[in-house]
Amino acid sequence: MRKYKVGILGATGMVGQRLITLMENHPWFELNTVAASARSAGKTYEEALGSRWCMTSPLPAKYKDLVMRDAVADAKKIADENDFVFCAVDMSKDEIRAFEEEYAKMECPVMSNNSAHRWTPDVPMIIPEVNPDHIKVVDYQRKRLGTTRGFISVKSNCSIQSYVPALNALRKYGIDKVLACTYQAISGAGKTFERWPEMIDNVIPYIGGEEEKSEQEPLKVWGEIKDGVIVKAEGIAITAQCLRVPVSDGHMAAVFASFRNKPSLEEIRYAWDNYENPIAGLGLPSAPKKFLNYFEEPDRPQTKLDRMLENGMAVSIGRLRPDTQYDVKFVSLSHNTLRGAAGGNVLMAELYCAKGYIQPK
Ligand SMILES: NC(=O)c1ccc[n+]([C@@H]2O[C@H](COP(=O)([O-])OP(=O)(O)OC[C@H]3O[C@@H](n4cnc5c(N)ncnc54)[C@H](OP(=O)(O)O)[C@@H]3O)[C@@H](O)[C@H]2O)c1
Repeated sequence: MRKYKVGILGATGMVGQRLITLMENHPWFELNTVAASARSAGKTYEEALGSRWCMTSPLPAKYKDLVMRDAVADAKKIADENDFVFCAVDMSKDEIRAFEEEYAKMECPVMSNNSAHRWTPDVPMIIPEVNPDHIKVVDYQRKRLGTTRGFISVKSNCSIQSYVPALNALRKYGIDKVLACTYQAISGAGKTFERWPEMIDNVIPYIGGEEEKSEQEPLKVWGEIKDGVIVKAEGIAITAQCLRVPVSDGHMAAVFASFRNKPSLEEIRYAWDNYENPIAGLGLPSAPKKFLNYFEEPDRPQTKLDRMLENGMAVSIGRLRPDTQYDVKFVSLSHNTLRGAAGGNVLMAELYCAKGYIQPK
């Protein structure tokens, strides 16, 4: 099988670097183009990065000398020479909305990490193990855009990927209300401790826009396709507080939940242990073998110990117990730049390829 040719827009950033590492040995995808801002264009990837490489593995030798393109000015060339692009850029929402749509209209599918199109009604927001059927809304989006190949798909915010997977297994019990407090890593802001020394020995109780995303995005993920758009789920009230904590990678959530049909603790554990994974059997290379993993130990999961479970693509859960105000409480954890960003984005692209929505040109 010929590999799919792939471009990364925002290749020098935190998510872009993760995408680079995930392309290195990918069995289906071959990195063909690296692009970022006009500041980087014309330089080799290594020169454009300067001292910014912050992955724990070394910069893959085969990508060092790739010549950077300008993701905006060179859009036509990039769209023509790739089967699809990943996009993770730091630009204004209006700019991102316009520029992602431009790629789609040039018949280049866009697998986006950015939030700009998350509320475009016919753009699916995919967590592959949770709502893979939402990819069907792409048929309507293509009609609107007038394309045959091109479309945009987004992944959700990284914060919700720590707790929505655990709650999704419990939807059959009628989730009524949820309170989630998230403890989010600094890589979620595209930062390291070197570049953000104020975070050492500190907690910052504010992440702009994050609480609204954490409360609203699960409702789109749990929504339904009606009349060519995704209509939000109703009847679930979510409230969130999001804190930045001094860890490099990994978002932890403390979750409280109440249900209309009260499950026992045993039923909840059974639902997690026997999660019916809708993408099992598709053979997607980045899919974890076990999506939801419950830890019996009272002090697990821990961010540092458990964020890399199944290459950072699994979700770790622990501390399930009754609550005095809600029915139950528990904690859950996922890796924010792998499961929550680049890894989730790659898995989403694999899903579209497996389902025939992206085909080699
Ligand atoms: N970090 C996470 O955990 C995470 C999780 C989920 C989603 N996201 C989202 O992913 C996106 C990228 O986040 P990040 O953390 O990777 O950001 P980042 O580390 O700040 O990187 C930003 C990237 O955008 C590029 N860029 C900036 N201005 C540009 C322009 N005018 N045209 C083209 N490219 C431009 C930069 O290129 P230069 O090097 O040329 O400046 C760089 O490659 C954001 O939308 C963010 O919200 C991040």
